[in-house]
Amino acid sequence: MKRVILDVDTGVDDALAIMYGVLSDNLTIEAICTVGGNTGIEQATENTLALLELLDAADVPVYMGAKYPLKPGAHEGASNVHGQRGIGGASLRRASVSARSTYAANAIIEHVRRSPGELTIVTLGRLTNLALAVQMAPDIVDLVQAVVVMGGAISHPGNITAVAEANVYNDPEAADIVFQSGCSITLVGLDVTMKCLLTRDQAELWRNRSNIPGYRFLYESTSYYMDFYDKTWNLGGCPLHDPLALMVAEDPTLVRRSKLPVAIETTGSVTRGMTVADRRVSPLRAWSTCDVAVDVDAAPVLERFVGVIDRGLERGR
Ligand code: BDR
Ligand code: CA
Repeated sequence: MKRVILDVDTGVDDALAIMYGVLSDNLTIEAICTVGGNTGIEQATENTLALLELLDAADVPVYMGAKYPLKPGAHEGASNVHGQRGIGGASLRRASVSARSTYAANAIIEHVRRSPGELTIVTLGRLTNLALAVQMAPDIVDLVQAVVVMGGAISHPGNITAVAEANVYNDPEAADIVFQSGCSITLVGLDVTMKCLLTRDQAELWRNRSNIPGYRFLYESTSYYMDFYDKTWNLGGCPLHDPLALMVAEDPTLVRRSKLPVAIETTGSVTRGMTVADRRVSPLRAWSTCDVAVDVDAAPVLERFVGVIDRGLERGR
């Protein structure tokens, strides 16, 4: 059992990751922290709570975190990608429970100190909460088992600027703090997530089963997300950005990894938010070395994702 803290900005693909995490037999979601990003912090928190309730998992504690990035003024919301309420064309019944009163960064510190060496933190939004946590409590760096970051793009173009991926671009200062913190980081970026596509055919299968609320949610949320990716990237499906990061936390062998020194660009007028990897034979030793996911075989990822969802939703019927 891999014990995980998820940090999310729910978000269609965050929602897919939460579903996967709750339904996988190999993962225990210890806590979920929320952050502004795909949608505002209140909406992201509400989406998370309501989805957990739909999945009969309202016992997972949810902690609301940073509304804004460390340096104010960055991009807010992505309704063109994730819809007005962050979950595409889906609707969820309002959650009957609220987020816990502890602030997300403090919750990360408390959970990690309570279970030294046991927890993996998987960040699926900008890295503000984790950056605040390591600044407030640097001791947690050695107490976290691993950090898996959905973010960045090493060889792939950016998705928010020519070179920057959204989660890093939306708070580069926070990403920089986390990357320099000494945490053991696996970077799951666009190089691999853009290869793992959910197809329209899969969404149709879910539509045919939409008498079951979990499948209805999957169909209604992902078809909106797919429309965006069709219009902008001509993909014929949507990438499993956030689910892939969680799946790599569960099973690192799903991707081919390379140990590379990585730095976050915080100052460039054109390159702000870029994840720069030094791929030279003799790289800069001063940069922190991460495990970068550089390639993936999409078929087993998709099969596993759909299998976990199907088995989990069937079980809960
Ligand atoms: C990342 O940005 C967000 O829109 C998605 O939820 C994902 O975490 C992809 O760049
Ligand atoms: Ca996300």
